[in-house]
Amino acid sequence: MVAFFYALFCGSFLSLQPLIRIAMEKIRVLLLGGGGREHALAWKMSQSPLLDHLFVAPGNGGTSEVATNLNFSDSDFDAMKHALIEHRIDLVVVGPEAPLVKGVRAFIEEDVDLQHVKVVGPGTEGAQMEGSKSFSKQFMERHGIPTAAFGEFTGAELNDAKAFLERFDPPYVLKADGLAAGKGVLILDDRSEAEKALEEMLQGGKFGSAGEKVVIEEFLKGIELSVFILTDGTNYVLLPEAKDYKRIGEGDQGLNTGGMGSISPVPFANETFMQKVVDRIIEPTVQGWKKDGMDYNGFLFVGLMAVDGEPFVIEYNCRMGDPETESVMPRIKSDVLELLWKCGVGELEGVDLEVDERFATCVMAVSGGYPEAYEKGKQITGASTSSEDTMLFHAGTKMQDGELVSSGGRVIAVTSMGEHMTDALRKSYAKLDELHFDGMYFRKDIGFDL
Ligand code: AMP
Ligand code: GLY
Repeated sequence: MVAFFYALFCGSFLSLQPLIRIAMEKIRVLLLGGGGREHALAWKMSQSPLLDHLFVAPGNGGTSEVATNLNFSDSDFDAMKHALIEHRIDLVVVGPEAPLVKGVRAFIEEDVDLQHVKVVGPGTEGAQMEGSKSFSKQFMERHGIPTAAFGEFTGAELNDAKAFLERFDPPYVLKADGLAAGKGVLILDDRSEAEKALEEMLQGGKFGSAGEKVVIEEFLKGIELSVFILTDGTNYVLLPEAKDYKRIGEGDQGLNTGGMGSISPVPFANETFMQKVVDRIIEPTVQGWKKDGMDYNGFLFVGLMAVDGEPFVIEYNCRMGDPETESVMPRIKSDVLELLWKCGVGELEGVDLEVDERFATCVMAVSGGYPEAYEKGKQITGASTSSEDTMLFHAGTKMQDGELVSSGGRVIAVTSMGEHMTDALRKSYAKLDELHFDGMYFRKDIGFDL
């Protein structure tokens, strides 16, 4: 049995409150996923005195520096069960959405051998907040949460869908209902193009089963940001907000990517704006779960559009953002593993977060050609961490014959801290000058619009 760890918590600043002594065993953790988000989560958890051992499946070349990588996919539940037993795991933290939508929580909760394992991540119903646009839009409508006006249509309703476009001015926003690897949203300027896309989605099998139902939305013009909570379904902790940069090209031009960089904090998300977000969106969302009888546990990522200073929900995700996590985690001073454990056991009540007020800026180095065809297996040099203020979070790397090589489109996120956004960015770009692999590309204008 592992050694006992005693944490002393002062229950509150009221002197009448007795000192509460909590005995906690050190925690053995399995983190599912293998991108930059997971490296940032693993890096942060590895600093916790509460950690006994951290495993990551499948992990990457960066997570292997702070944890033990396990060689199975994040959605291989049978392999996961084996690992949970073999490595005596107490807590499973789920990084990406796929295992959540596939039902990882139910798999663990329903297995008699895994009754002791706690999970951070929603169940199958909660994961529908991300897994189905129709589900999340209806949720927002039911609970009065501000979002774009919308209609939803199935294949049999193609003509109604086309006619519905009439209600909006271009551009037209069409969303495949289900998960479509981040590609299921089309924003089209032309009415006939939008009608053609509706035909392709609803009757032509574009996006497969994800596109069998389509949500048509009003286009919201504004500036986007990402807000996150960690919640046990009743209580929640508001995490630092961030802004990500999705387009491949400078000035937000060109194809969408998984994310080319992120900034936290977001200067326009001041106290007044964030209070609106909490009052109009976060609180009604948490209350909405209660009213609907839904147990939600884990991270919730709220993608927002600020329209003339008013927040509207663009989407919910049932996980942290990537690359937002790479700028959010370095700003959290509190013990993230303690928060995750409390989330897993449903005890987040009264938990406060200590946040570094400085800026964190993340710039992603990607493979040449990404997000279209690109080559992998390029040797990476200059990837050692050079200063306390700069961290490298690996997204698509692996160790091969003792060498670090690229293994994905997004390769390494370089995050730096600074008093001002420009200081932090200068440090990130200085580190990127030292980093090298054949074909490496990164955007030089992260934060340009702030
Ligand atoms: P989603 O997958 O729902 O986040 O959509 C992908 C991206 O499309 C978002 O990050 C926005 O940039 C854009 N988008 C989605 N919905 C809207 C909308 N109603 N108005 C304007 N832009 C949108
Ligand atoms: N950065 C956007 C996402 O993680 O979906």
